[in-house]
Formats: sequence, C-alpha cells, structure tokens
Amino acid sequence: MSEPRKLYVKSFGCQMNVYDAQRMTDTLAREGYVETDRPDDADLVILNTCHIREKAAEKVYSELGRLRKQQEEQGRKTMVAVAGCVAQAEGSEIIKRARVVDLVVGPQSYHRLPELIASAEQRRGVVETEFPVEEKFDHLPPPTPAAIAKRGPTAFVTVQEGCDKFCTFCVVPYTRGAEFSRPVDKVLDEVKRLADAGVREVTLIGQNVNAYHGLDAHGRPAGLAELVRRVAAIGGIARVRYTTSHPRDMDEGLIAAHREIPAMMPYLHLPVQSGSNRILAAMNRKHDRELYFELVAKVRAARPDIAFSSDFIVGFPGETDEDFADTMDLVEKVGFAGAFSFKYSPRPGTPAAGEEDQLPEAVKNERLYALQALLDRQKAAFDEACRGRRFDILLEKPGRLPGQLIGRSPYLQSVVVVAPPAALGTLATVEVREVSTKSLSAEILGGEFFHGDILPRERAYAGSADSVRTGAASSAPTQEVEA
Ligand code: 5AD
Ligand code: SF4
Repeated sequence: MSEPRKLYVKSFGCQMNVYDAQRMTDTLAREGYVETDRPDDADLVILNTCHIREKAAEKVYSELGRLRKQQEEQGRKTMVAVAGCVAQAEGSEIIKRARVVDLVVGPQSYHRLPELIASAEQRRGVVETEFPVEEKFDHLPPPTPAAIAKRGPTAFVTVQEGCDKFCTFCVVPYTRGAEFSRPVDKVLDEVKRLADAGVREVTLIGQNVNAYHGLDAHGRPAGLAELVRRVAAIGGIARVRYTTSHPRDMDEGLIAAHREIPAMMPYLHLPVQSGSNRILAAMNRKHDRELYFELVAKVRAARPDIAFSSDFIVGFPGETDEDFADTMDLVEKVGFAGAFSFKYSPRPGTPAAGEEDQLPEAVKNERLYALQALLDRQKAAFDEACRGRRFDILLEKPGRLPGQLIGRSPYLQSVVVVAPPAALGTLATVEVREVSTKSLSAEILGGEFFHGDILPRERAYAGSADSVRTGAASSAPTQEVEA
C-alpha cells in the first residue's frame, strides 16, 4: 500500500477559521490525507487566511515566502492552497503575487476541495471564489468519532455565517457574504454527533451569531435562544457558549436564556468597538453607548455572575481625544474580564478606508497602549477576584508538569489542577488558590471523576471513563497587541 498523503493546515484569524480548518481536514481525510504538524513533511499545505486587518492579511505572504524557501531547500514541490478570507478577497492576485501557490479557494467552496486539488495537480493556478447556491455545509462530511476525540472535549460549531451589518471598517460582509443561518436540525445533528464522541462543551459560532434565525423542522425561523436551549438539552453537553454577537441582536429572549439555561456559560463576548456615539455612528454600528450600557445591565440582572469581554478599535478615522476618552469611560463603567483591542486598519473596499481624516500611526499606538493598559488592569482585577471562588472547570488537556491537567473555567480562564489523565473530558468542581497572569491554579473539591458533589447547575456526564480523551483547546482570550 502506498504511503498516505500528508496534509498540513495552518489557520489564522477567528474561530470560524478553526472550525473551517477542521472541516477541510475531515473532507480530505476521506481522500486519504492524514494530518501532519510539519509543513516540510506535507504533500499538501493549506493556509487558512484572515483578511480582517492588514497585518493579518500580510501574514499569509510571509508564510508563503517561508514555504517557497523550504521547497527550494528540499528540492521538492508541495501543493500549496490558500483558503479563507484573503483567498476570497484577493483571488487570482495571490497566484500572480506568490508563485508557490497552486490553488486559491474561498470559504464557500471547501466542499469542492478534492476536485479543486485534482485540477490544480493538472494545472497550477486554480481559483475558486464563487458564492455557490448549494449549501456548503450539506456537502462537508462530518468528522469521524476518532477525529472528534482527538480534538478534545470542547468544539466549535458554525451555526451562522456572513454579515448584513456593514460596519464601515469591516471586510466581513464582502469576504463571507450575506447572513446565512444553518437549519436547526442540521446543527442539532452535528452537536449530537460531537456529544456521542465525548464533547462536553460547544461554542456556537458565527460572524453575527445572535442574528441566528435558522429554520426549524416546521419551517419556522428559530432564534439563537431556542437553538441554545435545544443544544443544551442534548445528552452529554454540559456547557454552551456563543460568539460573536452584535449589540443590536441581543433580544429579550436571548437575555432571558442567560437566566434560564444553566448550561449557558456566564461569559459574554459583546463587541462594542467604541464608546463614542459620534464614532459609533460613523462606524455604522446602528447603536449608541446607552444601548450598550442598557444591555450590560439587563444581562447582569439575568445572570449576576456573568462577565463581559469585548472588541475595541482605536484610531478610527476622525476619532478625537474626546471620542477616545468616551471609549475609556465606557470601559471604566462596564468593567471587562477580557478584551481584544486593535488599531484601526483601513481595508480595501470598505467605506471608512476612503475617509480623509485617517489618524497618524503614533496616535493610534498611544491610544491602543492606554486602552490596553486599562483593559489589562481590569482583567487582572477580575482574575484576582476569582481567588477563593468555587466553580466548575472542564478538564481539557495535560498540564506542563506530570500529574497536572488544565481545565477551563466558566470565564475561559485556564485553570491548572493536580488530577490524573483519566479525568480528562470531565467536569470538576474546584476552589481557586493561586492567580497569575496566564492561569489560575486550583484544588479539586469533587466532580464527575472524583468523589464528592458537583455544582447542581452542571449535569451529570453519561459517558464512561473509557471515552475520555486529550486534546488541544483554544487559548483563552487575551488582549491582542497590535503594536
Ligand atoms: N481595523 C481594525 N480592527 C478591525 N476589526 C474588524 N475590522 C477591523 C479593521 N478594519 C476588529 C473589530 C472586530 C474584530 C473581529 O476585529 O473589533 O470586532
Ligand atoms: Fe464586521 Fe460589523 Fe458584521 Fe461584525 S457586525 S462582522 S464588525 S460588519
């Protein structure tokens, strides 16, 4: 039998890309490809790219340069595909700019990868960036139980894609297209399959996930609250999260779901981008700071132990010192447990990129530095306040030292505990003892694998110790430094 072909996938950018990378891997597994974590060992390299900011988009070209050098040194041509949002946005430009690239494939065509690779084997320079009418999700094969188990007890599930909001800084409506919601039953089938293979926590993802309106079995549109409710009812699923949301789509039903559904984790990523009403209007965010405060208050009333994270952009065209002071003021007033903050990056084809009052880099740097210092202080204060607290963690992967495991708190913090490998994939109730910038350490009080009770909110796990597994988890949200 011939050696299996080896596939190396590198993902940049958001969680949607992490999910897409897995689905591409699942698709190619059927064609006999096995994963490798070394590009120099691969027969096929896929770069799954991000176009959201210039820095993210440029990363692909430095990666392609590295691949070209590697191939020259090895004297061996590896098939190279560029996927993701840069592929969608730049299409054949990539083939012209980087000779090492054989295939360019946009996010809507991943189900066609096998045939596209076959064409690229015949002829370099295949470009597929159409938005086909058929639903790609219907044609992407599901992962095998072994592949799910290898990825660990947490999983992302794309339930919504694209965006109709057209914030003036953002490329997403152009690279991912119009809003689309997957039907309820398709999502539930996928989650059941994950749960059967040992997944305990799912994060429902979408560029605008709380605008979800997938059709149910009766052909009626269901909102995100209903979807979360049904996902949470699936046996084995103990925790549900969703990301990323738009303030305008935080409806009363979804807010109530935070109170009513115990499996919903008390951590909400709700991007605000700016605290200035003038800038929010220029960004076409369709809401003001008052609405954001109102939402935070309502969600906190529904779920008092909830913590918030957000996205911020500094240095949007025309942003004055007063506008920026309003952002700092909003942060002070809300108090965030985590955040991503970015310097405004003009993106080709977006309205804000054409504005004349672009700010100098030095101003953007200064504001980013000040904002991140404040957000860092808030994150540190939130972590510190967890000292002595009790909550459940999901044990996700081995720790750095023997005998340690790393779990994830309800607030996405990494929590180091002493526990046997057989406890992986189970929930444990812990008390936090130590707090550092990267992680918490805690003592196990009880849990599914251990003697003692677990908190009543969390449901018992139906699986056996045989079905536990190891796997890498995504890193907890920290602040992105874009200096
Ligand atoms: N410049 C800087 N940050 C951006 N984001 C989106 N577009 C841009 C841009 N042009 C940020 C927003 C968004 C996050 C995913 O990326 O904060 O919420
Ligand atoms: Fe981009 Fe705005 Fe849509 Fe978010 S809501 S994806 S920032 S256009």
